[in-house]
Amino acid sequence: MTTRAGAHFPTRLALQGRRVLVCVGGGIAAYKALELVRELKRRGASVRVAMTPAAERFVAPLSFAALSGEPVARDLWSDAHRGEIHVELGAWAEAVVVAPATANLLVRAASGLCDDVVLATLACCRAPTLFAPAMHERMWRHAPVARAVRRLRDDGARLVGPVTGPLASGEVGEGRMSEPSEIADAVERILASTGADLEGVRVLVTSGPTLEDLDPVRFLGNRSTGRMGHALARRALARGAHVTLISGPVALEPPPGAEHVAVRSALQMHEAVLARADAQDAIVMAAAVADWRPAEPSTDKLKKPDGVTETTLRLVRNPDILAELGAWRAARGQRRPVLVGFAVETRDLEQAAREKLRVKRCDLVVANLAADGFGGDEDVALLVDEDGVASTGRIDKHALADLVLDRVRARLASG
Ligand SMILES: Cc1cc2nc3c(=O)[nH]c(=O)nc-3n(C[C@H](O)[C@H](O)[C@H](O)COP(=O)(O)O)c2cc1C
Repeated sequence: MTTRAGAHFPTRLALQGRRVLVCVGGGIAAYKALELVRELKRRGASVRVAMTPAAERFVAPLSFAALSGEPVARDLWSDAHRGEIHVELGAWAEAVVVAPATANLLVRAASGLCDDVVLATLACCRAPTLFAPAMHERMWRHAPVARAVRRLRDDGARLVGPVTGPLASGEVGEGRMSEPSEIADAVERILASTGADLEGVRVLVTSGPTLEDLDPVRFLGNRSTGRMGHALARRALARGAHVTLISGPVALEPPPGAEHVAVRSALQMHEAVLARADAQDAIVMAAAVADWRPAEPSTDKLKKPDGVTETTLRLVRNPDILAELGAWRAARGQRRPVLVGFAVETRDLEQAAREKLRVKRCDLVVANLAADGFGGDEDVALLVDEDGVASTGRIDKHALADLVLDRVRARLASG
């Protein structure tokens, strides 16, 4: 991540003493997992390896054993483990990286299947998990695989790659596994933001759209899916925070452990946030709250009278929750709760974010272009605060959530 001034934010953190489990799937790219093990070791990690039966068809377990310096977990049923190897490995790992993550592994892991040592360990492990998919582009685009990826992400897993490039078939396409050094970078980022550094911190996160009813069957809404807000809630929980998630209607499950408040309209969200604001250390407003609502929602379904070809909808302004929070905090003369706003724009991103920071009197604005982030699993964001502007580059929403929470933590630490 770089700032405007060109300063460099440290992203390459040493892996000294960190425990990383590498799960190898049965794809051509399994040979690159050897290099990954070397790279992780080079950065100081203790590495253990688990292989699927298919992976052994591509690379000999002995190679992984030699590079990691540890016996390889190959067989759920082996009595050599003297117990449940998946339980032991799952408890040992601080981070898990699945490389290559085959189409088969992704779909089976998303379903929670546990019939080999890799899948059983994934099911048994609560450490952050990073999948590095590798497959032919048609497999990557196969609907069940795409569904599985989405499901894994929604359950909190991270992905690195795949990238576009030459595939094993000789064709060029999206499906090539990321390079081992890039995967190791991603492991570093994950481990840099684990640990309970938000222990005891109370964080309120808003997520999703609000829907403004026109009549009993129609509403005005927006395209927010809640992925960003839910990722924030999930990461804050993982870092030890007490999380209240106030969410508009979304298709996502609230993360276990969060206090979940379901709302529908901007007015409901306004009420739910203000009622809880005083108890928070930080409020992160990731929801896409409607600016306007129908002035007179109808209790009956609106009809279209014969011959009428035009109609006018009268709208009234919704309360501006973030601006109210900023004003309320300023009136109290306090720096808490830390306030974070999100801005989705279609142009003049930085200018709009700076303006929002000033007008809403918040501490940080996370700004993105609608085309970059709305609805997807990744984003390209600007982090704008009083110190300046930093661009994240294309980034997974969970990783972006960690960057935002890093800023929140720093703000809380500064008093
Ligand atoms: C030569 C060969 C190469 C393969 N390469 C891949 C691959 O790159 N990605 C993938 O998802 N599957 C690939 N497969 C298919 C998997 O090996 C197969 O789905 C296997 O069941 C995966 O098992 P696992 O997911 O338990 O490791 C390949 C199969 C063969 C025979």
